[in-house]
Amino acid sequence: MENVKKVLYSAVQPTNNLTIGNYIGAISNWKKLQDDYDCFFAIANMHAITVRQNPAELRQRTLSLLALYIACGIDPEKCVLYLQSHVSAHAELCWVLNTFTYVGEMERMTQFKDKSARHTENINMGLMDYPVLMAADILLYQADCVPVGLDQRQHVEIARDIAQRFNNIYSPTFKVPEALYMKTGAKINDLQNPEKKMSKSAENPNGAVFLSDDRDVVIRKFKRAVTDSDSLIKYDPETKPGVSNLLTVYSVFSQKSMAETEREFEGKGYGDLKLAVGELVADKLAPIQSEQARLLSDKTYLDEVLKRGALLANKAASRTLGKVYKKIGFYQL
Ligand code: TRP
Repeated sequence: MENVKKVLYSAVQPTNNLTIGNYIGAISNWKKLQDDYDCFFAIANMHAITVRQNPAELRQRTLSLLALYIACGIDPEKCVLYLQSHVSAHAELCWVLNTFTYVGEMERMTQFKDKSARHTENINMGLMDYPVLMAADILLYQADCVPVGLDQRQHVEIARDIAQRFNNIYSPTFKVPEALYMKTGAKINDLQNPEKKMSKSAENPNGAVFLSDDRDVVIRKFKRAVTDSDSLIKYDPETKPGVSNLLTVYSVFSQKSMAETEREFEGKGYGDLKLAVGELVADKLAPIQSEQARLLSDKTYLDEVLKRGALLANKAASRTLGKVYKKIGFYQL
């Protein structure tokens, strides 16, 4: 029978440490999707260099992220796990799509505006072109859906626009992708500043819990989490953002409903809640961390995964690129 599974595409940049928020919002969901879709999961190192990187660190973080994907349950036999720079079609399609993208559109991108405000010393062309490269990523694999967080929504939107523009000028060439928002899209906020999303670039380092944090560090960060001056454990993000955030983390990591979580902490104090959340998160991270460390010590295996991924990704990508080159009139041998 024909393969009827839909194609799913996503990627993460091998830059900073990932937080538990990134884990909940992205990678933990991918594991559940891998049986239902034909999945391509990339390590977006070409996107990463739009901000200056240390080469040795970038190399190391590439393998760390690959090991993390696998440690989180993404099966490299079921999915195509690969490194973006191993598939030259990304850069090639990006170039073509650049000619179907307007400068004004890119200047209006929220992330471009934010990043150019933060990196005034290096507002490079790559930073501006970032969404077009991302469109190339997605469109090369004829992806039906792209699971992303809210911050990437605009980029998926522009990928759709570019695809439609190209399809209208030539003939249907690209699948027009849909952004996929997770139903369990619990948003985890900063522990020190619970009205803001937990982010890898948090001002206060105690605000974000990283997947690489040791048990003690995890527990300490939760102990120091900001709550409020009353003592009632209740989910109410408006008036009790700190406590509600802790309850959310607990509910997500324990896979219990919010009602059940609230009941569990009835009559208890904030100290109990903070300790329970810290221990739960540390317990959940421990097996992922040890599996990641084990995988990282087996470079031969990781290289094999990347080789297999590169082979399969190149095969799929070159099919699309070939079509595009033909349609735009590039003479082919
Ligand atoms: N820009 C995405 C991020 O930083 C990563 C990414 C690159 C991506 N290419 C992609 C995500 C394609 C989805 C699809 O989160």
